[in-house]
Amino acid sequence: MTRPERDLLGRPLHDLRVSVTDRCNFRCRYCMPREVFGPGFAFAPLGELLTFDEITRVVRLATGLGVRKVRLTGGEPLLRKDLEHLVRDLAAVDGVDDLAMTTNGALLAAHAQGLKDAGLHRVTVSLDSVDPAVFTAMADTVVPLEQVLDGIAAAAAVGFEIKLNAVVQRGVNDDGVLDLVAYARDNGHVVRFIEYMDVGNTNGWRLDDVVPAAHLRDLVKARWPLEQVDPDYAGEVARRYRFADGAGEVGFITSVTEPFCGTCSRARLTAVGELFTCLFAGAGKDVKGLLRSGAADAAVREFLDGVWRGRSDRYSELRSEATEGLHRAEMSYLGG
Ligand code: GTP
Ligand code: 5AD
Ligand code: SF4
Ligand code: SF4
Repeated sequence: MTRPERDLLGRPLHDLRVSVTDRCNFRCRYCMPREVFGPGFAFAPLGELLTFDEITRVVRLATGLGVRKVRLTGGEPLLRKDLEHLVRDLAAVDGVDDLAMTTNGALLAAHAQGLKDAGLHRVTVSLDSVDPAVFTAMADTVVPLEQVLDGIAAAAAVGFEIKLNAVVQRGVNDDGVLDLVAYARDNGHVVRFIEYMDVGNTNGWRLDDVVPAAHLRDLVKARWPLEQVDPDYAGEVARRYRFADGAGEVGFITSVTEPFCGTCSRARLTAVGELFTCLFAGAGKDVKGLLRSGAADAAVREFLDGVWRGRSDRYSELRSEATEGLHRAEMSYLGG
C-alpha cells in the first residue's frame, strides 16, 4: 500500500502534524505576543477551517505516502469543538500507528477521559515552568499553573503516557530547569527542553536568548547522572537521555545549536488546509481548494506526493543573517 516518498534531499515522509485551530487561550510571549495577537487580530474564520472529514481524508491519503505518525496541534487544539470526534476518526485510519496531541493543558482535565476513549495514544503538554509567577509571565494567561498541573494529572490518571515540552529562554525560565526535571521525575513524565527558536516574525527572537541544550544537559547531568538513549526511529527530534537511577528520561530539542534537518520527515497541515514542508516556511500549498473542488482521491494524493517530492527545506541548517529577514509563518498557525 505504501511506497515511502522521498523529497529532493532523500528524506521520507513519516510524520504529519495537523493544526486544528489557530486560536489559543494562552499568549505565550515567545509564540503569540499579546501586542500582536490582541483583540483586533484576524484569526481564521471558522468556515475556513478544514472539517473533520476533510482532515481525516488528507490523513488517510497521506498514509499512502508513508505517514505513520500524526500529531494534533493548534494554537490550542482543545479549543476546537468536539475534538474527540476527530480523534475517533483518525484513530480508525489504517496506517496511523501513533496518534498524539500537543496541548497547553488548560482544558485537559475536562477532556482527558474523552480523548482516551476516542483512541488518542499520547499527550504532550507544553509547560515552561513549575513556578507560578514564571509560568504566568511566560504564558500571559489568566489560567493558573495549578489548572495545567491538574490537567496533566488527569491525563496521567486515565492512562496517557505524558511528555512535557519546555521552551527555555535565557534569563526568563532557565533557572527553573532543575525544578521542572524534579517535577517530571516525581510524576513519571518525560520532560524535553526546546531551544527557543526564531519561528514567525513576531517574537523578537535573538540568538542571545537561546540557552544551548548542551548546557542544560550538563546542568541536569550534574544533579542526576544521565546515559544517552538511542533514537526510537530515524529522524526523532529530541536527543534522549535516561536517568542512571532508573527514574525515567529527559530530552533536548536542539533545533538552533544542532539542527536536525537532515532527517526531517515532517509535514504540517494548517487549520485552513495548507500543507507546509518546513516549520520556517513562508507559505504552504493549498490542499483545501483542491478538496473543495471535488477532486478525486487519486488527484489529492498526487498533489500531496508532488509537494513532498519537490521539498528541499532545511532552514535550521541555513539559519544566518541572510535568513533573518525572510517572512515565516507563525508557530500558532503552523502548530509547532
Ligand atoms: P515525540 O514523537 O513525542 O518525540 O514528539 P515530537 O518529536 O513530534 O515532538 P513534539 O511534537 O513535542 O515537538 C516538540 C517541539 O520540537 C515542537 O513543538 C517544536 O518546537 C520542535 N520541533 C518539532 N519538529 C520540528 C521540526 O521539524 N523542526 C524544528 N526546527 N523544530 C521542531
Ligand atoms: N521556539 C521553540 N518552541 C516554541 N514553541 C512555540 N513557540 C516556540 C518557539 N519560538 C513550542 C511550544 C509548544 C510547541 C507547540 O511549540 O512551547 O510546546
Ligand atoms: Fe498557545 Fe502553545 Fe503558542 Fe503558548 S506556545 S501561545 S500555548 S499555541
Ligand atoms: Fe524540518 Fe524545517 Fe525544522 Fe529543518 S527547520 S527540521 S527542515 S521543519
